[in-house]
Amino acid sequence: MMANVVYEKYKSDGSFLGNLLEWVDARFPATSLWRAHLSEYYAPKNFNFWYYFGSLALLVLVIQIVTGIFLAMNYKPDASLNAYGVPVAFASVSYIMNDVSFGWLIRYMHSTGASAFFIVVYMHMFRGMLYGSYRKPRELIWIFGIMIFLCLMAEAFMGYLLPWGQMSYWGAQVIVNLFSAIPLIGDPLSVWVRGDFVIGDSTLNRFFALHIVAVPMVLIGLVVAHLLALHEIGSNNPDGVEIKKLKDGKGVPLDGIPFHPYYTVKDIVGVAVFLMIFFGVVCFAPEGGGFFLEYNNFFQADSMKTPPHIAPVWYFTPFYSMLRAMVWDFFWLDAKFWGVVAMGGGVVILGLLPWLDRAPVKSIRYRGSIFKTLLVIFVISFLILGFLGTKGPEYTFFGVSWLPGTVIAQIFTVYYFLFFLTMPWWSRIDACKPEPERLTWK
Ligand code: HEM
Repeated sequence: MMANVVYEKYKSDGSFLGNLLEWVDARFPATSLWRAHLSEYYAPKNFNFWYYFGSLALLVLVIQIVTGIFLAMNYKPDASLNAYGVPVAFASVSYIMNDVSFGWLIRYMHSTGASAFFIVVYMHMFRGMLYGSYRKPRELIWIFGIMIFLCLMAEAFMGYLLPWGQMSYWGAQVIVNLFSAIPLIGDPLSVWVRGDFVIGDSTLNRFFALHIVAVPMVLIGLVVAHLLALHEIGSNNPDGVEIKKLKDGKGVPLDGIPFHPYYTVKDIVGVAVFLMIFFGVVCFAPEGGGFFLEYNNFFQADSMKTPPHIAPVWYFTPFYSMLRAMVWDFFWLDAKFWGVVAMGGGVVILGLLPWLDRAPVKSIRYRGSIFKTLLVIFVISFLILGFLGTKGPEYTFFGVSWLPGTVIAQIFTVYYFLFFLTMPWWSRIDACKPEPERLTWK
């Protein structure tokens, strides 16, 4: 509103800025877009900590795009060996790190940004589960979110091949080989994806093209769709109450406040804290203890030397654990196929949440103890699956032989799927409290 007042003042005062705004407005919906999405977009007034992560995801997206553009100026997607016997791609990353002005900063911002993206997006998705933000009428916002998540996974996977280190090479080898688990078409499909019989120069070139052009374009398109869907319906909130049900005479929700300036200012606080932590990691611990940049990836790719332990980066490990948990052949299909089904199903099933959850209320604040208990176990399962994915298949908890990692992963994988598949039943019988009419806000 404040911004509108300023705008109206300029528009009618005959000043250069006022005339310019009028000129633009006659040709482009600048003011109406500003109003619809910022100064007259009414958001619930009780947003809390969990609502920082959407704007942070946008920030990280911008960081990744900007640093990516600068990396592409010096990076070379070329697997051939240079005069020193080092792959050109690997050497170009060394060059960025050592010789390009502030190249180390750009590269570490991009690599830390990848992990930051997943931390922020996992928190953002978890907020959706806490407050039932995926429920009617926000199903499409959620579906666009899941598509974004899939794109992010593809983007991170392909980006990880580019430095052409040992983990880049062998990680890609393991994951692309998974396509061969698909009956009948599997083998030709994996050759088609690689562009070769093994991971090679053609794989590197196509992953580069997809990583820097195709997937980011789809990602940006999906983020726009995600936000348009959100602004069509309006945001949910920690009470899960629909604020549009109660409006004043002017049609403004009684419990709503304009996004700008209230939440733009609030989000700046989140951005400031995030950037402090982010640059702390970039400057002092860019490897993230071997989780953000794996130590084996500081060695150039060598097709003749398989690393003893191939593990994906931490953000894939919960789903990687599900893949490895499937050790049985069913029907005529082998364990690898079922592993792929479990891994893919683990992501896809998240997309079904809007239809699996039948509780009469949205927010955890008014849901019963069944939901709260099962959700806590769900989080623990996801974290343990993530932890196990970073370990080799021979791992045993505390070195105790009767706590083998594989069996624990199988138990938690079963729990992960049961949590969703039995949700239509337990979400209905859970004793929920009635939702309030208005937001609870102090
Ligand atoms: C690049 C990644 C993403 C970006 C930039 C992004 C951006 C945003 C923004 C700015 C908001 C509004 C502010 C907020 O509610 O925090 C939002 C809301 C939302 N997002 Fe995302 N998002 C991303 C990924 C996802 C994913 C992966 C999911 C879930 C699968 C998701 C689900 C939602 C939902 C359900 C809402 C509405 C929340 C509510 O109103 O309570 N988003 N997103």
